[in-house]
Amino acid sequence: MPPPEPPPDPLPPLDTTFVREQFPAFSEPSLADWAFFENAGGSYACRQVIDRLTTFYTKTKVQPYQPYPASQAAAAAMEESHVRLAAYLGVGDDEIHFGPSTSQNTYVLARALRPLWRDGDEIVVTDQDHEANSGAWRRLAETGIVVREWTIDPATGALDPAALADLLGDRTKLVALPHCSNVVAEVNPLAEISALAHAAGALVVADGVAYAPHGLPDVAALGADVYLFSLYKTWGPHLGVMTVRRELLAAAANEGHFFNAGVPRKRLVPAGPDHAQVAAAAGVADYLDLVDARHFAAAAAPAERGRRLARLFQAHESGLLAPLLAWLRGRDDVRILGPDEPARRAPTVSLLPLRRGVAEVHRELTARRLMTGRGHFFAVRPLAAMGVATDPGVLRLSLLHYTTRDDVERLIAGLEAALGRQRA
Ligand SMILES: Cc1ncc(COP(=O)(O)O)c(C=O)c1O
Repeated sequence: MPPPEPPPDPLPPLDTTFVREQFPAFSEPSLADWAFFENAGGSYACRQVIDRLTTFYTKTKVQPYQPYPASQAAAAAMEESHVRLAAYLGVGDDEIHFGPSTSQNTYVLARALRPLWRDGDEIVVTDQDHEANSGAWRRLAETGIVVREWTIDPATGALDPAALADLLGDRTKLVALPHCSNVVAEVNPLAEISALAHAAGALVVADGVAYAPHGLPDVAALGADVYLFSLYKTWGPHLGVMTVRRELLAAAANEGHFFNAGVPRKRLVPAGPDHAQVAAAAGVADYLDLVDARHFAAAAAPAERGRRLARLFQAHESGLLAPLLAWLRGRDDVRILGPDEPARRAPTVSLLPLRRGVAEVHRELTARRLMTGRGHFFAVRPLAAMGVATDPGVLRLSLLHYTTRDDVERLIAGLEAALGRQRA
């Protein structure tokens, strides 16, 4: 038997002053009085990304991969993003793709995988997913694929892995699921689910869009064949990242131009990439390197830096989420979607006020300069399954590691005013 893994080193507290200095939005006068809780919609961008974007546009905004210096520098910057982000995620730099968005990445992927399957083969989708990782797969029913639905518990919004086991069979080719839903926010046990699906011979496509902003995932350890997330919610530019296991990429149909079929990176990105944004993506790695050096003395490889930073961010976020959830649990006039304890949950809290209108509460929070979200957030299926009207939808409050205790106290005070007095 291998020796048990040593416990991870104790974590220092997150230096949020230092962290916030890395995000120009926090020193922007027009945003000064506002507290930001719509991070799950799109996060602020770190300075390192903005600097790289500016450098690209001012110094190297020419077609890359030509021999002159500006073009070579543009190409090198784009290559660097592939190499550095892949290293943080624990995948090869030939396994990472930058597409326009996660929705577009799944759309292309579904087309690329369909030729691997025969009519009557099966795929499993969930009703916990954002539509980005649902509709593209469900549409394959029109092409002869049998689509099975792994459904959530309508009261808790949870997906039960035991129920997945009943859906897997000889003909199951793929399981598409969220690592974490953008409204339920429970973190699904992805490594366990990947093992279950793989044992049945099925591929796993995991939507990590609502998970990655809370710490980049260790993709290899999670076992998914495809892992997707959106950099514009993960402190960076408006791009979708998609990692695809090397062997699967080779087997999938080429969706790029026919003469690029032999270029792995172009097979699943038919739109020409946004060069400047691809180049700017390395700024996310710059940012993580800086925060890592600030908090940890020991040198470590990028994948290990990613793991310890994820622990650092998640410890900070849980420490903020706990008082918010405790306060909400004490109210008799709100329904919290998903688990009401911080363990195994992302700090994205969807709420349904029970005695005031959602829109009214949202307006009141906005009047108090609290930026929060309202609507269905393209999570129409999970909300419908939980009996929540998609219009007006839910109120969503989402925290990131740059959120502070003061922010959360302001939010609680705002909610108290917006929800009004409780019944005795
Ligand atoms: C969980 C989840 N998946 C997928 C998406 C879609 O991402 P994109 O806007 O990059 O297509 C979102 C966007 O809100 C999301 O929250």
